[in-house]
Amino acid sequence: MAKTKKRFVCSECGHAYPQWVGQCNNCKAWNTLSEESVAPVSQRAARTGLAQLRTPQVRPLVDVSVSELPRLDMGDKELNRVLGGGSVPGGVVLLGGEPGIGKSTLMLQVALAVGNTGAKVLYVSGEESAEQVRMRANRLGNIAPGVLIFPQTQVPAVLDALRSEQPALVVVDSVQTLDLPDQDGVPGSVGQIRESSAALTAWAKSTGVPLFMVGHITKEGSLAGPKVLEHMVDVVLQFEGDRNHAYRMLRAAKNRFGTTAELGIYEMAGDGLSAVDHPSEVLLGERGDASSGSAVAVSLQGVRPLLVEIQALVSTAVYGTPQRSGTGFDLRRLNMLLAVLEKRCGFKLAQFDVFLNLAGGLKIQDPANDLAVVAAILSSSLDLPLDNRTCFAGEVGLNGEIRPVARLEQRMAEASRLGMERMLISGHGKPPKSPKGLKVVPVKRVNEVQRVIF
Ligand code: TYD
Ligand code: MG
Repeated sequence: MAKTKKRFVCSECGHAYPQWVGQCNNCKAWNTLSEESVAPVSQRAARTGLAQLRTPQVRPLVDVSVSELPRLDMGDKELNRVLGGGSVPGGVVLLGGEPGIGKSTLMLQVALAVGNTGAKVLYVSGEESAEQVRMRANRLGNIAPGVLIFPQTQVPAVLDALRSEQPALVVVDSVQTLDLPDQDGVPGSVGQIRESSAALTAWAKSTGVPLFMVGHITKEGSLAGPKVLEHMVDVVLQFEGDRNHAYRMLRAAKNRFGTTAELGIYEMAGDGLSAVDHPSEVLLGERGDASSGSAVAVSLQGVRPLLVEIQALVSTAVYGTPQRSGTGFDLRRLNMLLAVLEKRCGFKLAQFDVFLNLAGGLKIQDPANDLAVVAAILSSSLDLPLDNRTCFAGEVGLNGEIRPVARLEQRMAEASRLGMERMLISGHGKPPKSPKGLKVVPVKRVNEVQRVIF
């Protein structure tokens, strides 16, 4: 039998080295390398069942049949859409997110929904006991007899159960608890996560059964598991949101079977997660009376237009170094916008703290939000409220120019649908015809904004 080799693996990024080094060359993290032994390929293949897979052949690409893969309906509209129309056979999905965000809830809900179609689902729970999962399921809906629970962390036992039960869908919650006995390291270590998931992935691929794996990510990103996994799986889903708010967003960071542009929005309530069909209504519905520092951005998430309230608070700095903070908004982008306001509009903000907040606890990255951010900051620092039927969609460039944004027509339609009467957009390029009732105001430079809105 071949000799077992040793190597050192970074717990942050999974990069492997033949010898120990203090700093990982790949991700630049310090002191993250730990030793593990690598089983020879033959041994690994036997262990994971990869040896039984049929050997692929070289053949002309044109001869490959392209019949659409049949998709498994996940019984969840948002999840289906984010995946690109359900899960494909043998598709391996990693659901990542911070602890407590609702990953187990989402997966159990999906298990119950698929179970209700009469299919057999195996829910492998390494974190919670069968009783705990049952208690949660009670709140989530009907529990069909085909939904099986297996509180287990040992990978060989899980594989045995998969072979004997032959479910139509498998959920593993979570990869950090999986334990492969002949692999170095404690559960949750990079090697354990990688090899355990490889074994389950190989099973999913050979049987054509969709596999969902849950993976935790800490705020600091210190648990590396999911990162190592990202290139192993077909789809990486991110479940995010603010735990203090009810809204959660589901998006694909990687998707081999569809686009990564789709976004799912859920609301967490006492009876689990429910899809939010009209997120703009909900997000704007929380707005109070017109007050200074609030502006509405016509944002785009994937292909869905979304109206969000952006709040800014500009106040005299308490400390020598003014504070800048952005909740749900990229801090570097905020600093850039503040610099543009200072340089191009002569707005001196160096003595002021600036806080920015995207209402609803959502994290949205769309350059089109820039204009609303600028408007909110101007409104707060001048203490002048904006008209609450005015909205914004424009990117701000370094020279203070307002640049056009993608899918303007769709954004206008959504703004109009929500009763907006005025929309500030880029004055560069030809705007599409605006819907009735919505007055489009083109602005070319950031220093024109103040004059137009107040
Ligand atoms: P959970 O799914 O356990 O999070 P994760 O698996 O990502 O760690 O759920 C997190 C929170 O959701 C938990 O604090 C309680 C809350 N919750 C509800 O508000 N309603 C519900 O119906 C359920 C099941 C959970
Ligand atoms: Mg959980």
